[in-house]
Amino acid sequence: MGKLEQKVAFITGAARGQGRAHAVKMAQEGADIIAVDLCAQIESVEYPMATPDDLAETVKLVEDQDRRIVAQQADVRSREALQAAVDAGVAEFGQLDIVVANAGIAPIFGETGDGPDAWRDAIDVLLTGVYYTLDVAVPPMVERDMGGSIVITSSTAGLKGLGRNLAATTAGMVGYTAAKHGVVGLMRLYANLLAPYRIRVNSLHPTGVNTPMIVNESFARFVEQFADEGNALENALPVELIEPEDIANAAAWLCSDEARYITGVTLPVDAGFTVR
Ligand SMILES: NC(=O)c1ccc[n+]([C@@H]2O[C@H](COP(=O)([O-])OP(=O)(O)OC[C@H]3O[C@@H](n4cnc5c(N)ncnc54)[C@H](O)[C@@H]3O)[C@@H](O)[C@H]2O)c1
Repeated sequence: MGKLEQKVAFITGAARGQGRAHAVKMAQEGADIIAVDLCAQIESVEYPMATPDDLAETVKLVEDQDRRIVAQQADVRSREALQAAVDAGVAEFGQLDIVVANAGIAPIFGETGDGPDAWRDAIDVLLTGVYYTLDVAVPPMVERDMGGSIVITSSTAGLKGLGRNLAATTAGMVGYTAAKHGVVGLMRLYANLLAPYRIRVNSLHPTGVNTPMIVNESFARFVEQFADEGNALENALPVELIEPEDIANAAAWLCSDEARYITGVTLPVDAGFTVR
């Protein structure tokens, strides 16, 4: 028996990286999946974002687990698009139990990362996008009255104001930090609002994860500027980057009955980054 048998999970940003790992892990644990991803580029983002082929690969990997998946291209900045995706998934599976609000961008480096679009895009995707995700997913969960679990992917940048180099700090980085802190407020509010319905809400705070968001040339150039901060970007445990599966394992556990009385928590999955 998997940890999530008979459950249906709605995952945003599921085409690759952590979102794909969440879809595969939750399918392995017995859940059916409702997946969305933008599968297109946002101008302020300097690294290549996911493609329709990436989302198709996630579909295949979930189906390889003998689970079902309803996948759509949708932008978390569009409440209507998210509503359509949830409606399609609930029409297919008849229920919704789990939400992983994971979709994200890092418009924090390169020329584009320091313009006004970078700030606005960070807030739109990482904060408003999470609000819309919860706003469309909560009604069918409340209506079914069978409890549930919502996980919001924040960051260590949602717990600390990282960086000591004012000149190298971009508008996008400020927006990223503000949005990742902002979703902690959303998490706490919804944890309170939804507790009477036995729906739990928690946030995850990863350190650097081995995904295309930070494993790219632009990010490598960006962190070089912080070389004078010594090992400020290092984890306490001796590991440079953790794997998407490390975040997926934490989310699957948070969404399982093993964590049934855990709500309102900011859970770092950060190899000790924030304890340093
Ligand atoms: N990689 C890291 O080091 C790291 C660390 C801490 C937190 N995070 C957070 O983890 C989450 C997942 O990121 P990842 O590391 O898997 O990166 P990633 O770039 O591999 O995956 C992010 C996914 O979100 C999708 N997406 C972006 N904007 C979207 C939108 N408007 N609508 C729908 N989908 C959209 C992308 O297409 C992509 O498939 C993000 O919220 C990110 O901020 C990442």
